[in-house]
Amino acid sequence: MKKIIIATVIAFTLCACGHSKQGLTFNPNDGEEAELTMPDGEVVRYTAYEHLYYVRNVEDTAYQYLNVYVPEGATRTTPILLRTYIGGYMSAKARRPQAGDATGRALKEGYVVVIPGSRGRDAMQDNVYIGRAPKGLLDLKAAIRYLRLFDREMPGNAERIIIDGTSAGGAMSALVGATGNHPAYDEMLSDMGAAKESDDVYAAVCFCPITDLEHADIVYEWLYNGTPSRQRSAQQLPISNQLKEQFPNYINDLKLKDWDGNEVTADNYMDLLRRELIRSAQTAKNAGADISDTLGFAFSQETMGGMPPINGGKNTALPMMQAPQPQRGEYVIGLDMQRYLNYVASTQPLKTAPAFDTKGVVGQHASAENELFGGTDGSSMNFTVYSAYKNGKDLPKEVVDNVYLMNPMNFIGIEENEVGKNKKENKHAVAQHWYIRHGARDRDTGFPIPLNLALKLNEAGCDVNFLFAWNRGHSGDYALDELFGWMKSIL
Ligand code: DHB
Repeated sequence: MKKIIIATVIAFTLCACGHSKQGLTFNPNDGEEAELTMPDGEVVRYTAYEHLYYVRNVEDTAYQYLNVYVPEGATRTTPILLRTYIGGYMSAKARRPQAGDATGRALKEGYVVVIPGSRGRDAMQDNVYIGRAPKGLLDLKAAIRYLRLFDREMPGNAERIIIDGTSAGGAMSALVGATGNHPAYDEMLSDMGAAKESDDVYAAVCFCPITDLEHADIVYEWLYNGTPSRQRSAQQLPISNQLKEQFPNYINDLKLKDWDGNEVTADNYMDLLRRELIRSAQTAKNAGADISDTLGFAFSQETMGGMPPINGGKNTALPMMQAPQPQRGEYVIGLDMQRYLNYVASTQPLKTAPAFDTKGVVGQHASAENELFGGTDGSSMNFTVYSAYKNGKDLPKEVVDNVYLMNPMNFIGIEENEVGKNKKENKHAVAQHWYIRHGARDRDTGFPIPLNLALKLNEAGCDVNFLFAWNRGHSGDYALDELFGWMKSIL
């Protein structure tokens, strides 16, 4: 009897340490000790809190929870790296930290690591697709709200969340960074039983974000229309030409400024891109890379004689460019863009035309993005006016609304003082700090897509560190020394 009483008292004490708020729970005593062996053999010890459901109305028990990993020494003020493993707009599991990516590195550096699961275009329960746009984004926002709800009980500072993702995950990172607390998502989050908390983040790390989906086809054809693969294709060339023609209106309407504050237009965009790719090559060269003469670059022993300055204004990826220390006395002073684009296309075949909204256009199948915007019945949908028109259709309002909600460009620079958190009111807040990388030979989306995102953020007053990463294809979580150096600099 005495034993039972003691056991009951212990059990009660443990339960009492658990916290329940707004129907969500967190128990600081539920952590389990674990360790991770890093590539260099160093063993990092941490406490794992797993399977923390972040909404009250869980629709998918496989995905709608998050894991928290707390390294030794972390406190309530330790910043949080929140890594999403979303790829291809698919569902993503709440994984464990990986020694080879930013999660392992973050633990080693003492950050609290949070890995949320989230539903994607493939998530299905009882024959209903429950992860179509914008559900994956809502799940990430709900996860952030959960971290705020238990900020006092949990190690890690929810006001210092740095979100990191690659590709579709990079797009999600950009969306989370741009749409913090925006009322457009409130009702849906409330229906899910998400915590009534703010969901803005401090910083966003976006590797090769596959974003601005409704303009990505136009950008892609403007960029690659002249490549041999496009020119050769009798069926796709007319499509490519028609999409390319829409570029001037699209880019002029964006009213972007370059890093130095000059207007960006359709007429000068190729020059801007040239400068950015030269900056990429020069940065790599300064670090010792050997750049082949065959890619289209021009080199000189003199610094930029009359060539476009490799300047970057407020872009914090630029200081290394302002005082170039080239190897062998060489400066990258020019680039034949067509030659370089042909090179990019030679490293990996280009996507078809259109590149994203493919469904039904010259007999093509649905893309990942067509499924993203598809219905709960598993259907896929066109999401651009162009491709819908090609199929003799208009875009349904629901699709138009979802496309809007899934484009970070719609939420940047729309109000005054939106950057950073306004502590008094939980109003729309765009992340203050941004680290955006896109591989200099990544052809999964056109180069202007991540560049436009970076320029728009810069113009809105964000602190932006942008670079086309030299000789990188479609990938993320690379150059971790640089990334973690940047993280340190903003904290
Ligand atoms: C991803 C890649 C793509 O080319 C695309 O269209 C969508 C998503 C990805 O890797 O996540």
